[in-house]
Order: sequence, then C-alpha cells, then structure tokens
Amino acid sequence: MDISLSFFLIFSMLVIPSSSTTTRSTLNSRSSLSVEKPNDILISPNGVFAAGFHPVGDNAFVLAIWFAKSSSPTVVWTANRDQPVNGKASKLSLLKYGNLILTDGGQNTIWSTPTTTSAAMVQLALLNTGNLVLNSSKSSILWQSFDSPTDTLLPLQMFTRYTTLVSSRSQTNQSSGFYKLFFDNNNLLSLLYNGPKVSSIYWPDPWRMPWDSGRTTFNSSKIAILDTSGYFVSSDFVKFKSADLGLGIQRRLTLDLDGNPRLYSLDEKTGNWTVTWQAMVDPCRVHGICGPNSICSYGSGSGRGCSCLPGHKIKNESDWSYGCELEHNLPDNDQ
Ligand SMILES: *[C@@H]1O[C@H](CO)[C@@H](O)[C@H](O)[C@H]1NC(C)=O
Ligand SMILES: *[C@@H]1O[C@H](CO)[C@@H](O)[C@H](O)[C@H]1NC(C)=O
Ligand SMILES: *[C@@H]1O[C@H](CO)[C@@H](O)[C@H](O)[C@H]1NC(C)=O
Ligand SMILES: *[C@@H]1O[C@H](CO)[C@@H](O)[C@H](O)[C@H]1NC(C)=O
Ligand SMILES: *[C@@H]1O[C@H](CO)[C@@H](O)[C@H](O)[C@H]1NC(C)=O
Repeated sequence: MDISLSFFLIFSMLVIPSSSTTTRSTLNSRSSLSVEKPNDILISPNGVFAAGFHPVGDNAFVLAIWFAKSSSPTVVWTANRDQPVNGKASKLSLLKYGNLILTDGGQNTIWSTPTTTSAAMVQLALLNTGNLVLNSSKSSILWQSFDSPTDTLLPLQMFTRYTTLVSSRSQTNQSSGFYKLFFDNNNLLSLLYNGPKVSSIYWPDPWRMPWDSGRTTFNSSKIAILDTSGYFVSSDFVKFKSADLGLGIQRRLTLDLDGNPRLYSLDEKTGNWTVTWQAMVDPCRVHGICGPNSICSYGSGSGRGCSCLPGHKIKNESDWSYGCELEHNLPDNDQ
C-alpha cells in the first residue's frame, strides 16, 4: 500500500468519528441526533429520503423527513411543525426503553413517541418508502411516521379514520394551516376550510348529493391508499390516477397551502416536481381562499386572483386569508 494513502487512512480514522462519515439509515437505542451537526441525518437505503433536523426559519428547526433528491429539500413529514426547536443543543434521542424524544436547548420535551418496551433492543430506521419506523428486536413496529402524516401522503402510506392532512400556513411558514383532508362522519373523504372566522366543507361539492359526486357513504372502513404505480383509491369511491401512471417514479400527494390536494411526480434529472393530478380544477371553489369580504376570480399567473368587495380594503397585504375590511377604519363588528 502506498505510504501516503495508508497515512491518510490512519489519519482519517483518528480524526473523524466513524458514525459521522458513513451515511446510515438507523439510530440505535441510547443514541441521538444533534441539531448542531448537519451530518446527523438518516438516509434511506435507496438514498431517496432523509430524516433529521430541518431549518424552518431563523434559528428554528423541525424534526422532519424530506426527499433528498429533489432540487430543494421537499419535506413530507414533520414531528413538531407548530413548535420548532432552536438551533442550539436540541436533540432527538432514542432512550433505552424505546421512547423517541425531541428535546430543545432547555431540555424540555417538545415531542415524543408514546412507546415503551421491555425489549432488549430498539431501533429507529428510515425505510425506502419514506416511513420512519421504531421497532423492537421482537421485530414489531412500536411507532411509525406513516401513522401521523403532516400535509403529505406517500405511496403505500395508509390514509385512515385516524389520519388527516393539514396544509402549511404559508410558503414560508410550515406550521398548521387552514385546510384539512379527512374522513368525515358520513365516511366521505372531505376537505375542510377551518379559518379564523368560518369553517366549511368544500369537497365533495356541498351542494350535491354524495352519489352525484361519485361517492358512497355506505362503506365505513374509511381507508384510502396511493399505490406505487400512481393509482389512488378510497373506500368512498374516490379514485384517481397519476397522469404518468407507472412504476419507478417518486410521487407524493400534498394538501397544498391553497387548499387543493395535488399529486406530484419527481423528475429525477432536474429534481423538479410536476403536478400529475389535482382535486379542484376550479381553484375558486376552495373555500376561504380569499378570506372574508372578498371575491375570487380567474386571472393570470396561478390562475386565481382575489379582490376586495367595493368599499373594502385588504387587511393583511401578505396574506389574503385575512380577507378585507371596510375602508375608513370602521370597527370590525364580527370579532
Ligand atoms: C427492527 O429492529 C432490529 C433491531 O432491533 C433490526 O435488526 C431490524 O432490521 C429492524 N427491522 C426493520 C424492518 O426495520
Ligand atoms: C407561523 O404561523 C403561526 C400561526 O399563524 C404563528 O404563530 C407563527 O408565529 C408563524 N411563524 C413564523 C416563523 O412566522
Ligand atoms: C369497503 O372498502 C374497502 C376498501 O376499499 C374494500 O376492501 C371493501 O370491500 C369495501 N366494502 C364493501 C362492502 O364494499
Ligand atoms: C427545473 O429545474 C431546473 C434546474 O434545477 C430549473 O432551472 C428550472 O427552472 C426548473 N423548471 C421548472 C419548470 O421549475
Ligand atoms: C399578516 O400575515 C403574515 C403571514 O401570515 C403574518 O406573519 C403577520 O403576522 C400578519 N400581520 C397581521 C398584522 O396580522
């Protein structure tokens, strides 16, 4: 062996702890990931997904899973979207008895899994599907991220009566927003706008009977799934398929911040996402999109525009969901 090469090997073994040099997909008990070490992430064996701390603002981080191969990291799951932790001393730790806990710099527990086990060994693993799984040596699943989606459903992730998708608040704020996808009490996969002042269902079309929208209320199993070739099927008869149907393409179903669920496919060459299906062809039908005292109309660009009713002005220039208020600073009488 070349002397300089062997010197290099010895040198690198001395200075670099082995855990941070190799990409790994698992975390064993009594170990942790630190927010201060950018390399402290798990990578799925196929290289498609990554899990770890993800920045969401100034000194603010969430524990997240994201697509590692898209041009900008596309987050598909977060543990603490409404309570980001700070960039100093925050940690994700897998405790001896199987609890996964997220602590901030002040050692407060911000999030944890409700798991304990007597098993000798527990392991956290990021699987090729994008599912972060906590399992025990008895090989049973103690907890999995697929059971608590954020705004995105991945192929093979079961959508059930216990799960919801909630949109992000805005382009720059990933905390819980106003739109929600869930199974309602009539067994229908529904979209709800739950705004600061009003709350209403906008999908399926509230003015039509469910069967006129191609739905059934009779199947109470309340399950839906997107398969790996791009077919989505739900127990209430919602069915759709990706425009690029077929295996071998990374896809995600995301409830976007405009309240429209869209199916996306990844172009692995550019790292860009393409929309291959969307629920609402008519974006003005999404409730609350322009907020109170405003009208939605079709314009250029994204295809939708908001404007205030006559005599009103926009309440918050950066966020239409606040709607419009009367001009001349009259008090807002419905607060
Ligand atoms: C479950 O954990 C054990 C170690 O406790 C590990 O060997 C095994 O590969 C894990 N199984 C899965 C499916 O992650
Ligand atoms: C994100 O939105 C939430 C809810 O409106 C708000 O409480 C939070 O301060 C916002 N975060 C940022 C970084 O703007
Ligand atoms: C209800 O939906 C589930 C899931 O789609 C399906 O497997 C089952 O056969 C359905 N039951 C009836 C009675 O149609
Ligand atoms: C696709 O990705 C390329 C390279 O990252 C970028 O320059 C281009 O603007 C993207 N195209 C679209 C339609 O977003
Ligand atoms: C306006 O909206 C932005 C984005 O949601 C928010 O951060 C800000 O606090 C809002 N301003 C007021 C005055 O409500």
